[in-house]
Amino acid sequence: MARAALRLGVRALALLVLVSVALLPLVSSDDGYRHCEGVVRGWADASSGRVKDGDKLSLKDLLFFLHIPRTGGRTYFHCFLKKLYTNAQECPRSYDKLRFDPSHPDCKLVVSHDDYSLTSKLPRERTSVVTILRNPVDRVFSTYEFSVEVAARFLVHPNLTSAKLMTTRVLTKSRAVSTLDIWPWKYLVPWMREDLFARRDARGVYKVHSSKKVNAYDVDDMVMPLHRYINDPVAHEIIHNGATFQITGLTNNSYFDGAHEVRHCVRKHPDLGRIVLEVAKNRLDQMLYVGLTEDHEESARLFAHMVGAQVLSQSGTLTLDLKEDLPIETDSHPSMEPEDEETNGHLNSTHGWQNNEAMNSTNDEHGKGNMTVGKLMEAYETCIAKLWKSQSGRRKISLKKVQEANFSKEARKLVSEAILNQIISLNRLDMELYDHAKKIFTQEHLMLKAQQSMVGQHRQFGEQKGWIGAMCGDGICPPWMVVLVVLGISTIIVLVTLAVTTRKRTSKLKV
Ligand SMILES: *[C@@H]1O[C@H](CO)[C@@H](O)[C@H](O)[C@H]1NC(C)=O
Ligand SMILES: *[C@@H]1O[C@H](CO)[C@@H](O)[C@H](O)[C@H]1NC(C)=O
Ligand SMILES: *[C@@H]1O[C@H](CO)[C@@H](O)[C@H](O)[C@H]1NC(C)=O
Ligand SMILES: *[C@@H]1O[C@H](CO)[C@@H](O)[C@H](O)[C@H]1NC(C)=O
Ligand SMILES: *[C@@H]1O[C@H](CO)[C@@H](O)[C@H](O)[C@H]1NC(C)=O
Ligand SMILES: *[C@@H]1O[C@H](CO)[C@@H](O)[C@H](O)[C@H]1NC(C)=O
Repeated sequence: MARAALRLGVRALALLVLVSVALLPLVSSDDGYRHCEGVVRGWADASSGRVKDGDKLSLKDLLFFLHIPRTGGRTYFHCFLKKLYTNAQECPRSYDKLRFDPSHPDCKLVVSHDDYSLTSKLPRERTSVVTILRNPVDRVFSTYEFSVEVAARFLVHPNLTSAKLMTTRVLTKSRAVSTLDIWPWKYLVPWMREDLFARRDARGVYKVHSSKKVNAYDVDDMVMPLHRYINDPVAHEIIHNGATFQITGLTNNSYFDGAHEVRHCVRKHPDLGRIVLEVAKNRLDQMLYVGLTEDHEESARLFAHMVGAQVLSQSGTLTLDLKEDLPIETDSHPSMEPEDEETNGHLNSTHGWQNNEAMNSTNDEHGKGNMTVGKLMEAYETCIAKLWKSQSGRRKISLKKVQEANFSKEARKLVSEAILNQIISLNRLDMELYDHAKKIFTQEHLMLKAQQSMVGQHRQFGEQKGWIGAMCGDGICPPWMVVLVVLGISTIIVLVTLAVTTRKRTSKLKV
């Protein structure tokens, strides 16, 4: 009897132990999830401060160009913003976090790879944010290609030690901001550089190249293959879902101390990504302008009208000549596809205003010509043609050092479906955010079209220069103005209808 009870007890105990052992990981992982959910939700609640709706379309005192790497933002900086803002108006060292000084008086423009958390350093209610998004798969490709391109420039050195030493010397001497100072390249380039040297050392310098067709994204003996690159912890930390994290202020480069924990939680529990994605979508909704790298021409046109026009009208007397201020490159290779041609510059090239001599002279030549949106677009077209040409030339020279890594649109076709799918699944959040951006872009497009047809109609009515004409001038009408006009017209229609029906009713009553 007692023995049976004991046996039963032992069995029950064993069962209990078994069950708890089985449940333990479940319970603890659930705890991890709960904790993470709390962290992410807490962050989301704290970040969902909204600006007043309807307010977003007018340009505020400070323009923050949130430049997501490899989206083509560089051409906007060079070919639009540099023509719209004077050197003095550009906040010092826009690309360099360490020396960034938003308190600088009169500073009106920040262009940076810094994430949204930078706005905590800016007068938030007086800041307009703009950005450009790109198809995440292409962005990953481009990030890979650019990492290789910049790192390959170091291969002129006999060894890694000498390459590093040289860079430090050049940088301290010139005080220039190099790609190596700028997030995310300051991590991605040294990583790739180290890898390139290791591979070169391993194969020996005198390897004879095969002439058979190779997949440029899988040249194992020369360059870290793409599939390795995207699966490396560094890529997980910095590249995947990079647009979403940058727009939510959660990158590895954030000013927000809790960024790492939130990001870590989202990576560990992918379904928490929803919460982050919602914040990102809201942020995009509230931006003054959202462009798409793929739809480059229309993006530029919208930028000129939605942002450029307002900068011009606010600066009033600012007149600029249209002189090019691009570095002159000697090679004349045909230009590549626009979306592949954003760059953060050469090792030696600088960012920001300090070294830009042409810009210096431009500002002194007031009255050389009145800048309009039309002229701005013209200047932009000339400017990007040159920029792309010089960039593609530079790229070709750099990539010569890793001959078989011959990146191009054509070469991308050799990348397997499996790798493409993997990139997509590693960038789920960015994929969805990009879809959202496309919707916003369509709205912007429609808005501009409505505005222009309205101005067109106004023109048809001829000389009667109404208040639209008076306010908008040369057919340049900022979108917020259109909203006002549309609102005004609707109000008038409603009032007239009301008046008419009321009169009808009263007359009926009298009868
Ligand atoms: C690297 O190259 C430099 C310059 O040729 C040389 O002086 C140095 O000894 C090399 N270092 C190593 C570790 O090979
Ligand atoms: C950002 O990521 C890089 C590369 O993984 C890492 O070396 C660096 O420490 C990270 N920085 C922060 C602040 O997490
Ligand atoms: C940087 O510029 C100097 C001269 O201006 C040149 O000698 C050097 O080769 C350049 N460095 C690179 C990496 O292009
Ligand atoms: C800009 O102009 C000022 C005076 O006109 C001059 O002192 C300065 O060196 C110029 N800067 C550049 C980069 O040319
Ligand atoms: C710029 O515009 C003003 C007023 O619209 C005009 O008087 C002036 O002549 C224009 N300047 C040039 C160079 O076109
Ligand atoms: C690189 O690509 C271009 C065009 O796609 C081709 O003409 C060239 O032969 C390629 N070079 C190598 C080394 O594969």
